[in-house]
Amino acid sequence: MQRSTPIMTLLLAACSAGGAKEVREEVPAARGVSMPRPGRARGEAAVALNRACERCHEAESAEWRGSLHQRAHVEPAYQRSFAIEPLPFCRRCHVPEGDPMLEPAPAVGEMGVGCVTCHVVEDGGAVLAVPREGSRTGEIAPHGVVRDARFATADACASCHEFAFPGSSGKRRDELMQSTVSEHAESSLRATSCASCHMQVDGERRSSHVFAASRSPELMRAAVRVAAERISPTAVRVSLAPVGVGHALPTGDLFRRIEVSVEAFGPDNLVISSARRYLTRHFEMKKGGAGKRLVLDDRLTGERALELDLGAEAAGHPIAWRIGYQRVAHPEGAAHEDAVLEDDMELASGVIR
Ligand code: HEC
Ligand code: HEC
Ligand code: HEC
Ligand code: HEC
Ligand code: HEC
Repeated sequence: MQRSTPIMTLLLAACSAGGAKEVREEVPAARGVSMPRPGRARGEAAVALNRACERCHEAESAEWRGSLHQRAHVEPAYQRSFAIEPLPFCRRCHVPEGDPMLEPAPAVGEMGVGCVTCHVVEDGGAVLAVPREGSRTGEIAPHGVVRDARFATADACASCHEFAFPGSSGKRRDELMQSTVSEHAESSLRATSCASCHMQVDGERRSSHVFAASRSPELMRAAVRVAAERISPTAVRVSLAPVGVGHALPTGDLFRRIEVSVEAFGPDNLVISSARRYLTRHFEMKKGGAGKRLVLDDRLTGERALELDLGAEAAGHPIAWRIGYQRVAHPEGAAHEDAVLEDDMELASGVIR
């Protein structure tokens, strides 16, 4: 750990001077300290300050580098989707330190959601942290630290992880493009904070900054328990239950889904008949292409049993079942079956004779 208090102070000063360029938005008139939010637009000053954080906090930096927060702008899945809907609105979250009206400078894009985006929130430049008695390591921070209990709650994530479709008020649930915070508030696990689940480090008191989720087969498989049984010569019942998930599964991006598929097959392994279901938010294009309408939300929020019938031709044949977690590329209105996939991760599978 290196010490460079004057540089730090200078950098913090540089950063808050850049605050003049900040795209102002109404921060809820909450008491005290503001929480992390999109649309900061502090540009290169934020990058310079972030490099200082990275130099001193090596463990957190190694975790953050390669995370979807750091990669929020450069991630190919996002870039492909942005190419279809290139709105300044998207940039406010995916490259929050850039000017939303412009393609960001490479270093700003490469930083994505930076240390500074979450931790340097006030104009004064002090570092936001959770309440704790004294220093974490016995060392004294060479920078200001503001401790606020809300930083340890969903408030730290809320302004990026819940938002309305562009042009809608977001007053109704079906106007939300992402609703993870509301889902969390309605979950039986609401007393557990986002960070307790997503930043947990076993056996240590340090918070992890990896935020792996959708890219980790281990985590995704552990998040759902599945059982399948044949309930008639032609039908299968698949039971799914989320395990330790504090919101709907899947949550977040609207084009994610769980695919439940069953196939009856013959001795030559040829598929005789098949059936599938998608657990997701189902949208319908409004008449005249004026946006989307939410028709059904059947994502997992608790235990659920689905019955799939394969038709008379399946009788007497083995049935293979599979649960896939799928990230759909921007569907541009295509039907579920025609959607192009960014990824299809197998969560569970089996064969019933
Ligand atoms: C010159 C080295 C240095 C720089 C630069 C630096 N830090 Fe620190 N920071 C420390 C030290 C030392 C501590 C106190 C020991 C600890 O908690 O790690 C600390 C404490 C913290 C804490 C509080 C940890 C707790 O106790 O809860 C946070 C959060 C933090 N730093 C984040 C940042 C961020 C974000 C940046 C960039 C804006 C930054 N630091 C820049 C050295 C530095
Ligand atoms: C400044 C905005 C911002 C803040 C604040 C923020 N996030 Fe994120 N987060 C993002 C963006 C943008 C992505 C997705 C990047 C991508 O995939 O392109 C993301 C991705 C994630 C992912 C990975 C999702 C996946 O698909 O694997 C998790 C988990 C996550 N965030 C949790 C949190 C938690 C918990 C907090 C609060 C402690 C938080 N985030 C705060 C913007 C933010
Ligand atoms: C998406 C938001 C987000 C980003 C990006 C982020 N942090 Fe954090 N960080 C948090 C939150 C939230 C906590 C507190 C978690 C808790 O304990 O509830 C935290 C905790 C910390 C701590 C205290 C460690 C501990 O054990 O409590 C340090 C130090 C820290 N962050 C440094 C950094 C540095 C350095 C970076 C960039 C390399 C960074 N953070 C990026 C949200 C973020
Ligand atoms: C009780 C634990 C728990 C809580 C609380 C929780 N999550 Fe999760 N979350 C999970 C699990 C489990 C997954 C599945 C992958 C994993 O383990 O990371 C997940 C997945 C995600 C994903 C990946 C998207 C997807 O496809 O499902 C995001 C984004 C996310 N959580 C954000 C949040 C945010 C933001 C909060 C707080 C508002 C939060 N989570 C609260 C357990 C939790
Ligand atoms: C208010 C903040 C916010 C805005 C605005 C926003 N996003 Fe996101 N986006 C997020 C967060 C947070 C996630 C992570 C949730 C998850 O992983 O499911 C995410 C995830 C994504 C993903 C999944 C990326 C991956 O790596 O899997 C895509 C694609 C995406 N957003 C595209 C867009 C596009 C295109 C726009 C503009 C039309 C947009 N987003 C606007 C916050 C935002």
